[in-house]
Amino acid sequence: MAKDKKELRSQAWFGPADRDGFVHRSWMRNQGLPSHLFDGRPVIGICNTWSELTPCNAHFRKVAEHVKRGVYEMGGFPLEFPAMSLGETLMRPTTMLFRNLASMDVEESIRANPLDGVVLLTGCDKTTPSLVMGAASCDLPTIVVSGGPMLNGKYRGEDIGSGTNVWSFSEDVRAGKMSLAAFMDAEACMSRSVGHCMTMGTASTMASMVEALGIGLPTNAAIPAADSRRYVLAHMAGQRIVEMVKEDLKLSKVLTRQAFENAVRVNGAIGGSTNAVVHLLAIAGRIGVDLSLVDWDTLGKEIPCLVNLMPSGKYLMEDFYYAGGLPMVMQELGDLLHRDHVTVTGKTVAENIEGVECFDRDVIFPFDKPFKSEGGIAVLRGNLAPDGAILKPSAATPELMQHRARAVVFEDIDDYKARVDDPDLDVEPNDILVLKNCGPRGYPGFPEVGNMALPEKILKQGVTDMVRISDARMSGTAYGTVVLHTSPEAAAGGPLALVRNGDMIELDVAGRRLNLEVSDEELAERRKGWTPVKPPLERGYYQLYYDHVLQADKGADLDFLVGKSGAPVPRESH
Ligand code: FES
Repeated sequence: MAKDKKELRSQAWFGPADRDGFVHRSWMRNQGLPSHLFDGRPVIGICNTWSELTPCNAHFRKVAEHVKRGVYEMGGFPLEFPAMSLGETLMRPTTMLFRNLASMDVEESIRANPLDGVVLLTGCDKTTPSLVMGAASCDLPTIVVSGGPMLNGKYRGEDIGSGTNVWSFSEDVRAGKMSLAAFMDAEACMSRSVGHCMTMGTASTMASMVEALGIGLPTNAAIPAADSRRYVLAHMAGQRIVEMVKEDLKLSKVLTRQAFENAVRVNGAIGGSTNAVVHLLAIAGRIGVDLSLVDWDTLGKEIPCLVNLMPSGKYLMEDFYYAGGLPMVMQELGDLLHRDHVTVTGKTVAENIEGVECFDRDVIFPFDKPFKSEGGIAVLRGNLAPDGAILKPSAATPELMQHRARAVVFEDIDDYKARVDDPDLDVEPNDILVLKNCGPRGYPGFPEVGNMALPEKILKQGVTDMVRISDARMSGTAYGTVVLHTSPEAAAGGPLALVRNGDMIELDVAGRRLNLEVSDEELAERRKGWTPVKPPLERGYYQLYYDHVLQADKGADLDFLVGKSGAPVPRESH
C-alpha cells in the first residue's frame, strides 16, 4: 500500500509554512535546491563512507552521483551525508574497535535528520556492518550499495589476491623463498584499480551477505568497482529506494529470521569470512532477530563450499562475477534457501534469481559436485571455550582438524611479536600456538591477529600450517587451521587466560570440541593469580567500549545498542 506523501517523516521538517519550516528549507536552498524538492517527495539519505583514508571506498563520490540520478528519476530528493569511515589498512589499533562507534554515528545521523529512506554506500570490511547496524536501529526503508571489488591483482603473469598473497608472500620472504625487492614490487600490482579487496575476504563476504540477506540488489556482491555496471547498480538502487519509501518497505520487513538463515547458508557456500559471524550476530541483535552462534553451525553444517575463490581456492571476485556471481550460488542452493523471502527489489529470492546461468564451472561448482565438501563455520565448545569458538574448515588443513598437542603460549600480541622468531623458542611443528588478550576487550577491539604467522624456524622446515587458538578474529583473506573468537575471551576471565606452556589441548572439529586437559581444581588455583587487562586509554570512547562491549558470541556490540529503537521524529531544535 502506497503511503500518502503527507505522512512522510521528512515533512515534519520541510512541510510547515511557518518559522521552523522556513529555517529548514531556507538554509538548504543555499545549495541551489529549487522549492519543489520540498513538496513532500521522499527524501533519500545517501550515507557515504567516502574517505581518502579508506582507499577501498575512495571512488564513492562517483557511486553517490549515480544513486542520485536514480533517486531524481523516480521523483525523490537525494541528500548525501558522511559517516565515519573505517579504513581497514590504516586505522589503529583495529577498525573493529570503531565499528560500534560508526554505527552510532549512522543511527543518530539518520534519526536526527529529515530522511524517509536511506541508501548505504559500503565497501571496506567494517563499513558494511557498521552502516547496516546503524540503519537497523532506525528501521527506515534502506538499501545497501556495495562499492565493488578491485580488479584481479596481476603480478609476473599470475593473478594475486588482496591480503591472501600478502600473507603468503611475507611468509615466503621469511622462509627465504622470495626476495625483498620482489615483495616490494608486488605492492602496486596487487591493488591496481578502485574497489575493495578482491578475494573472498571480509569485504566481499559482507557484500555477499548484503545480497543474500536481500538488502541489496541482485549482483551487488561481485560487480568489480571499475566495471560500468557497478554504476548502473547504484543508479537502480537510487530508483528502487524511492519506491521502497512509497511501499513502506522497512528494513525490518526484509531483515527477518528467514533472511539471516539464507545468509548463513550462503556464507557456507561461498567459503565466506569468519568475520561474517560476528557481524551478522550484531545486525540480528539490532533488528531484533533471534540468531545465535549455534545457528551458524546447525544451518551451515551441510553446506558445501561451491566457489573456488581465494583464500579457500584460486580465483578472485572479478572471475566470480563473470561466472555468474552470487545469484548463481543462490540458484545452486535451491530449496536450502527461503526462496519466498521478499527482498528490497520487492520480489522474492526465487524471482530475483530466476534464469541465472553459470559461465565457468571451475569458479562456481554445482551443489552435487562441490569445490569443497565442508563450507560452513564449525562452532567448537569445551572447557577452553564454554561460550564457543569458531573455525573455518574450508580454509583449514584437513589433517590438523583432529589434533592433540602441547600449547605454546603467548600472553598477548606484544609477547608474540617479541618471541615468535626467537631461535630459542621452544616450539615444534606439531604444537598448538595459543594467543591471549586479543578479544573484544583485550586488545582492545578484537583485531585480526588470530592467523598469527608461524615461527620462522618452523617455516624454514617447510611447514605451512599449525593449529592456532586465540580470542582474536582473522582477516577474511587469511587461511589456516585457526580457532578464533574463543569466548569468553582471556581479558574477560575466560579459561583461555589460564592456559600455560606445555598444557595439552585437544581440537576435534568433527566432534565440535575444544578441550584444555587441565583439571577444574588446577584451573581454579590458576585463576587466583589472574588479573584483567585495562584499556590503554581510560577515557572517552575507549572506556565506553571497554565497559559495554559484549563477547564475540553475542556479536561484540555494545550492550546498550542491542534492540531496534526506530526513528521517531525528535523534538524541534530551536
Ligand atoms: Fe578494505 Fe580489504 S582493506 S576491503
